Amino acid sequence: MSTLLDLNSVSLQFGGIIALNRVSLSVEEGSITAIIGPNGAGKTTLFNCITGFYRAQDGQILLSTKHKPLDLVQLLGGKFRLFDAPWSNIKKVFYGFFGGTHLVARAGIARTFQNIRLFSEMTVVENLLVAQHRHLNRNVLAGFLNLPGYRKAEAKALECAFFWLDIIGLSDLANQPAAALSYGNQRRLEIARAMCTEPRLICLDEPAAGLNPNETDQLSLLVKRLRDEFKVTVLVIEHDMSLVMSISDHIVVLNYGEVIAKGSPKEVQANPKVLAAYLGSDED
Ligand SMILES: Nc1ncnc2c1ncn2[C@@H]1O[C@H](COP(=O)(O)OP(=O)(O)OP(=O)(O)O)[C@@H](O)[C@H]1O
Ligand SMILES: [Mg+2]
Repeated sequence: MSTLLDLNSVSLQFGGIIALNRVSLSVEEGSITAIIGPNGAGKTTLFNCITGFYRAQDGQILLSTKHKPLDLVQLLGGKFRLFDAPWSNIKKVFYGFFGGTHLVARAGIARTFQNIRLFSEMTVVENLLVAQHRHLNRNVLAGFLNLPGYRKAEAKALECAFFWLDIIGLSDLANQPAAALSYGNQRRLEIARAMCTEPRLICLDEPAAGLNPNETDQLSLLVKRLRDEFKVTVLVIEHDMSLVMSISDHIVVLNYGEVIAKGSPKEVQANPKVLAAYLGSDED
């Protein structure tokens, strides 16, 4: 196996709070890697750095590509980064105002959120179509004239949406508003939405939160399917330890913004530092 994502000494501070302190870890291509740790350990902040919601203040986040690894921290650049505009001779355009998530998405990383973020008034299938905006033909004239290229892109997006609805078992609810779905179904729809962007890496932030045991079992099967059948690398934050232990190939433990342990589920389970972090006592 090769490394897909490599974090070297990533740090981020909010005022006086050190949310991430020199975090280094790697994620093997085709693996399920879990990030665990007590509340406030920095797990979501780490996802925010990897997915371009935040720019790490220090360190490297390297995504392997066919050529030279891509440093996502560099990619996000400064607040008002300049980039080449392919559609014109004007090479320098400001993008900083919009943030950097689209750049990271283009690099092949998708995510779900700790607090579900669906478009609740849109239908289930519309949520999956919106996710594919990058692949759609946005030329207004092409849309107005209903040109073949436009229709083809639209048909492809619909096909992809229904493919994923079938996988998550929500085809029958395609035209329901997302808000009408049960909590468990909303969580699965978020995963489907992320998968519609055809990512290489999917980051799931507490996908089992609020699920009943039956929904958690379904989720476990779905996550394993993403790895085994769809060859996607999975990075998952989760508090449900039985789920973590059953699906993960590798676990990284964060506490107060620092990596305190890494290893296989068995190794991590037996690590006294991990037990101490969870029990809130010192190592002894
Ligand atoms: N935007 C922000 N502004 C200020 N402080 C923040 C911000 N985001 C996170 N923090 C702080 O950074 C620390 C890490 O928070 P984070 O949300 O990453 O933890 P977490 O491990 O995801 O916790 P949980 O398991 O509760 O979701 C916390 O002390 C939190 O209060
Ligand atoms: Mg969190």
